[in-house]
Amino acid sequence: MIVARTIQQQLERASWIRRMFEEGARLKAERGAENVFDFTLGNPDLDPPAAVVEALREAAASHGPGVHGYMNNAGYADVRCAIATRLARSTGLPYTANHVLMTVGSSGAINTVLKAILDPGDEVIVLAPYFPEYRFYIENHAGRVVQVETGSDFQPDIGRIEQALTPRTRAIILNSPNNPTGAVYSAEVLAELDAMLGRAADPPLVITDEPYRAIVFDGVQVPETTALVRRCVTAMSWSKAWAISGERIGYLAISPRLEDADALRNACTFTNRILGYINAPAIWQRVVMDAADAAPKVAEYGRRRERMCAALERIGYKLMRPQGTFYVFPQTPLADDIAFIRELLREGILAVPGSGFGRAGYFRLALTAPCEVIERAVPGFERAFQRCIGIKPGAMQHS
Ligand SMILES: Cc1ncc(COP(=O)(O)O)c(C=O)c1O
Repeated sequence: MIVARTIQQQLERASWIRRMFEEGARLKAERGAENVFDFTLGNPDLDPPAAVVEALREAAASHGPGVHGYMNNAGYADVRCAIATRLARSTGLPYTANHVLMTVGSSGAINTVLKAILDPGDEVIVLAPYFPEYRFYIENHAGRVVQVETGSDFQPDIGRIEQALTPRTRAIILNSPNNPTGAVYSAEVLAELDAMLGRAADPPLVITDEPYRAIVFDGVQVPETTALVRRCVTAMSWSKAWAISGERIGYLAISPRLEDADALRNACTFTNRILGYINAPAIWQRVVMDAADAAPKVAEYGRRRERMCAALERIGYKLMRPQGTFYVFPQTPLADDIAFIRELLREGILAVPGSGFGRAGYFRLALTAPCEVIERAVPGFERAFQRCIGIKPGAMQHS
């Protein structure tokens, strides 16, 4: 067999999201695309902000020697300096260009830092439910995934994290605002985490993955993780905020409070290179500096969230309204979330089972389809719900 056993096994475990995508293609061919409601992919469907498109035009028009050449593997110094200035302003910490490394999205940032800190068999804690790709990123670098459950409100459970620590724990991955739950981790819980790590003999590094930081609702403020957690690096990305997930631009920011910040920066500059990223795309580094103030289209996601949550709640689904991101993570009316996904499929609705994120009994909906599609999907959500709880469709009255 040409494919390595590890990859073959990972492919078999991989991605409910991909499986649902394939199922969707089959359904669309069978029923017509307008009768299939796809809520699987976290791939923003909106146009990027106008200022981003304009900055891209300008960057593409600028020529000169070296513009398209190799650079410092960490990225352009002026771009890193601009990002450090913003970070210093928002966190009150003395970030400089040396604390910032431009990366191929947030995924690139996470792989770069994991490669820099893991020896084979080292452990990384992920908080369930979690973005399923973390598992593969950790395994990419011969690490071992340790899954720790969050509480019923999807906030980190510091007691459980403390119990999961071993001498081999090298990192904890946090993700807030969270995919799939939409929860924003509170300042209190982050301070509690920091205090607990302060008592640990050999505290792990906290990797806070925050590509949804700009997408929050109802005036929610996302706490500055690095201001609250001492041993911290931030993986950041413009994929979601600017709807440019195909362009692959983000950064890794190493907290100035980390004693080994210099050593980690050198290691990460090297791992970013040897993983084959070399450096983040040159043109997009220019764009993120020039269009730094471009605002994401949060209002549209807010409308979709309202439509979807209100409709599901009216039907009887139990859910916690997301504070951020463009996901909703309701409970399934059947304990078996995969069986429930099949019920949704009968209605032409594509969603991802909670099992794919390490939490059975839930399902994830990505609000990357317009309100009109959400509205047309509602009767299907209602029929599926009623079948599952044994009510004949149409027999249930709503106030
Ligand atoms: C939690 C989380 N982290 C990272 C990523 C990957 O982001 P990027 O496109 O910046 O690599 C995603 C994408 O869905 C995500 O949901």
